[in-house]
Amino acid sequence: MDTDTRNQEPGTKNQEPRTSRVVYTVPFVDPGKLYAMIKPELDAAYHEVMSKGDLIMRGQLSAFERNLAAFVGTKYAVGLNSGYDALHVSLIAAGIGPGNEVIVPAHTFLATASAVVNAGARPVLVDVSPDFNINPDEIEEAITSGTKAIIPVHLNGRMSDMDAVMAIAQKHNLAVVEDACQSLGAAFNGRRAGAVGLTGCWSFYPFKILGGYGDGGAITTDDPEVARKATLLRYNGEDRETGEYHYHGFTCLLDNLQAAFLDVKLRHLPDWISRRRAVAEAYRKGLGDLDGLALPHYGAPGFEDVYQNYVVRTKRRDALYDYLKEKGVETLVHWRRPYYSYKALGLEDRGYPETEAICRESISLPLNVEMSDDQQDYVIKTVRGFWRQ
Ligand SMILES: Cc1ncc(COP(=O)(O)O)c(C=O)c1O
Repeated sequence: MDTDTRNQEPGTKNQEPRTSRVVYTVPFVDPGKLYAMIKPELDAAYHEVMSKGDLIMRGQLSAFERNLAAFVGTKYAVGLNSGYDALHVSLIAAGIGPGNEVIVPAHTFLATASAVVNAGARPVLVDVSPDFNINPDEIEEAITSGTKAIIPVHLNGRMSDMDAVMAIAQKHNLAVVEDACQSLGAAFNGRRAGAVGLTGCWSFYPFKILGGYGDGGAITTDDPEVARKATLLRYNGEDRETGEYHYHGFTCLLDNLQAAFLDVKLRHLPDWISRRRAVAEAYRKGLGDLDGLALPHYGAPGFEDVYQNYVVRTKRRDALYDYLKEKGVETLVHWRRPYYSYKALGLEDRGYPETEAICRESISLPLNVEMSDDQQDYVIKTVRGFWRQ
């Protein structure tokens, strides 16, 4: 029995498996298999939290925050409920609000722009480069007297050119909020994603590189005021020590149980990133010669990518999708339509050719830490089979 899942795709976030009864030889992700790989550690974390009754803002959360900050290379990390909350809270903590404009890439998950709208400001869109990240050459012409911040998004496990973004931000006195939701562990010129701008925003949505068992997120920052404000905002503006209210805040903190699970997974992250790079390299070797297939290896110096998504581009994208599905390889088309094209969102569409081409041409091959070498080789063999037809 087959379910056509394509219609469900426009609503998907990255790395989200679709509801489907197809049994894939290579599923896009296999959370049950990943659980089996580290079951004793996750079960021990669960038992500790449950037996102690450590549910809200306990030691597991602060331990995870410490370890995350150390991994990213910042002084502080503040656990939140989602990547969206990390963006929203960052903007508010940076003083962004009504009357302000914030520059965001035209190609990203909608949450990047929605956080700006929900902070009361206006997103101003800028097209991306062929590496899927904001095109620094187009940022300055989008800056007006109302511009207060830039949100570079490090998409698919690759950082934006932060040297260029930071130079523009300094010149125009703009805050930089990094949407690093897809790039934990990635680096550019020796600095990790989430450690360069005012804040780094993280999502621990289950299918991220570091995924929880429900929603989760965090901010990383070196700024003590931003860390303090985010800590208050995540819990209704209340200072938990004194009981005083300082802001109209939210209820958006990272659950203690999720923090405990994430802390377990964080210990495995360096190995998992190596594994992701090894699979990406196998794909590069196995598919690099195919005519008309663009792989996500850009060769620019200074970038250390972590391959949250292995997004390839071809003019025959829809036929490739159908062929791979029939052969048992589950792929994902992240966004078939640019988010700004949805009229209900009221965003300005000034025409963004690279974003539009990406929506037509891109497709993600399965790449995760739980896949076997045999599955990796099957993906290569099957993609090559499509090119041989
Ligand atoms: C680039 C990007 N920004 C923001 C988000 C929002 O994160 P969350 O789903 O945790 O709210 C995501 C995750 O889906 C993302 O991929």
